[in-house]
Amino acid sequence: TPIPATLIRGDGIGPEIMDAVLAALDALGAPFAFEERPAGLNAMERHGGDPLPEETLASIRRTRLALKGPLTTPVGSGFRSVNVRLREAFGLYANLRPCRTIVPGRFSDVDLVVVRENLGGLYVGQEHWIPVAGDPHAVGVATGFNTREACRRIVTYAFDYAVTHGRKTVTVVHKANILKVLSGLFLEEARAVAKDYAGRVAFDERIIDACAMQLVLDPARFDVLVTTNLFGDILSDLVAGLVGGLGFAPGANIGPDAAVFEAVHGSAPDIAGQGKANPVALLLAAGLMLDHAGRPDAARRLRDAITATLAAGTGTPDIGGTATTAEFGAAVAAAIRRA
Ligand code: NAI
Ligand code: MG
Repeated sequence: TPIPATLIRGDGIGPEIMDAVLAALDALGAPFAFEERPAGLNAMERHGGDPLPEETLASIRRTRLALKGPLTTPVGSGFRSVNVRLREAFGLYANLRPCRTIVPGRFSDVDLVVVRENLGGLYVGQEHWIPVAGDPHAVGVATGFNTREACRRIVTYAFDYAVTHGRKTVTVVHKANILKVLSGLFLEEARAVAKDYAGRVAFDERIIDACAMQLVLDPARFDVLVTTNLFGDILSDLVAGLVGGLGFAPGANIGPDAAVFEAVHGSAPDIAGQGKANPVALLLAAGLMLDHAGRPDAARRLRDAITATLAAGTGTPDIGGTATTAEFGAAVAAAIRRA
């Protein structure tokens, strides 16, 4: 039976990389019945209004599953980030960013997952200025929020993920030595949750700065990392750099009501429409979506085909290749059909 899902092509390189992904999903015989809906700058321009139209929200409410190309947040339009609005609208509290070596580079054996709290922390944008002696912007203030419930929920998600994916260790990444309240609460809840998984999943603690250094020196020692919103934002780009950059980094935004799968990178306006974009990150995101939809075999076939294509030397210009986006998608589709 087909699985209903919402498809958002997105802005910039979005339509090109999405076409490559659809070619691969077609070759797989993937079970998704896509409803295409608009979002982003293109939606605003074509529909003369909201970059996140109600028809798109309604579709995701119905399908509870979306594959999304990158969205350009229109600067100065008065609209908030569409990505942040999607997270809030569907309570997408867990941002999952797996990071695995496909093309050996600086490291050959990275296989870790960053689980980032997606709704709170220092990312909530509660900021203000304090004026001093005629300077209205003399002091900048930001407030962060971590609720006990949100900390417990994200750490529980990370441990459950470890159990269901055969992962051995969850490392909580924090700065509780300095941010004793904001980060201290997170660490306290992480330690409490870890006790429930004792004997099944090992638990480890790292302070964010030391963790960043250890990730760069020896990423193979890490397995699942769980952290708060801002630290997760930074660490997940750091780990993408360990395996070849943003072109290889997929992300999943998961909540109780829906899950949205995307590439970590943006709409890359500098190369849009030129057939230069690397579709691997969005292809890997489609793999995560297959996993999430209970189709791990199809997900594995997709990942194997991506690996085989890259191993055969086919790649887009960002990784030193000569293939266009469409050629890369066709090569992955062919590898799927051959396997
Ligand atoms: P970006 O990720 O779009 O681009 C950064 C650099 O990486 C550019 O040089 C670009 O050409 C390159 N790049 C990115 N993806 C690539 C790919 N698949 N293949 C080859 N090269 C690639 O980040 P930037 O320029 O900061 O943002 C552009 C727009 O994207 C902004 O409007 C931003 O708000 C939006 N954005 C959207 C995201 C989303 O929808 N999840 C995430 C990040 C940014
Ligand atoms: Mg980021």
